[in-house]
Amino acid sequence: MNKFLTIRRPDDWHLHLRDDEMLNAVTPHSADFGRAIIMPNLVPPVVTGGQARDYRARIRAALPEGAALKPLMTLYLTETTDPADVVAAHAEGLIAAVKLYPAGATTNSASGVTDFDKVRPVLEAMAEAGVPLCVHGEVTDPAVDIFDREAVFIERVLDPVRRATPGLRVVMEHITTADGIAYVRENAADAAMGGTITTHHLVINRNAILAGGIRPHYYCLPVAKRETHRLALREAAMSGQGPFFLGTDSAPHPDRAKLQPCGCAGCFTAPNTMSILAQVFEEDGKLETLEAFASLNGPAFYRLPPNEDRVTLRRQDEPIRYPETITAGEETVTVFDPGFDLHWQMEPA
Ligand code: DOR
Ligand code: ZN
Repeated sequence: MNKFLTIRRPDDWHLHLRDDEMLNAVTPHSADFGRAIIMPNLVPPVVTGGQARDYRARIRAALPEGAALKPLMTLYLTETTDPADVVAAHAEGLIAAVKLYPAGATTNSASGVTDFDKVRPVLEAMAEAGVPLCVHGEVTDPAVDIFDREAVFIERVLDPVRRATPGLRVVMEHITTADGIAYVRENAADAAMGGTITTHHLVINRNAILAGGIRPHYYCLPVAKRETHRLALREAAMSGQGPFFLGTDSAPHPDRAKLQPCGCAGCFTAPNTMSILAQVFEEDGKLETLEAFASLNGPAFYRLPPNEDRVTLRRQDEPIRYPETITAGEETVTVFDPGFDLHWQMEPA
């Protein structure tokens, strides 16, 4: 029997679309989201307002006719970012946020920040102008165990930076730990902090990557943690509470680059994200909070109205089959496999 759930059109507050052939191949899979925060970690990264404008034009060109998606651009914070450029790009509505990657933390993060004193003037200008800072919350210190890097980041970097920059609004991106959830909750008053949660981190724990064989398609950063953390993420996402919203971190890579002795990080969830989310929210008896997580809490944090229009999710008895891979030029990209059947599908209202 069919079941229906109608919600405001969802947004994706953390998305990688890449460039060139990959951009053309993956962008249509996010076309039904209302808005998406576009990550700037291209090679070379998007660091100026001018580059963000050019990249936005390339994204728009890659969207199918009639697509809902509006790309909201970000700038990649470097130690030489010009505060005036950031403030001007935000004032004209070109960028929605600035992204902080600690140098070396993840894919294409070599131009990120090592010395936080060097970015203090930019952060102060952002606090003043109300430009949110999206952070990749992991320390890069090789002495810190990879499973502890998020919790240590909060203590060594995030909290000191926030204390040193009163008024700076921060999104802790792709939270993977109970520690991250607790920190965002404690600091969410007056929308000073928000936190995105990915689709895949609601589904997998670290066993999925390592138990019974190594599964490169489940490897992403921050790496999935133990089950207690996954459960904390599910509770937060399904709480309906303001600070937590969807940021898929859908991060396509060619299979050729993932299936290597040293494979790269990223899960490609754009094609089936809403199906997976509906499935897990239903599984926990929380379908009624999906709209808050996917469609309401994000715009509230970013001080934007929710999307005007609605979408309907339809549940059918027969499982819905998504392609295992998509093609980008000569490359194939594997679609995230949640490991269970999907019955929900998003369709136009
Ligand atoms: O798994 C990830 N992939 N995490 C990130 O932070 C970056 C992303 C990418 O760009 O591939
Ligand atoms: Zn990302």
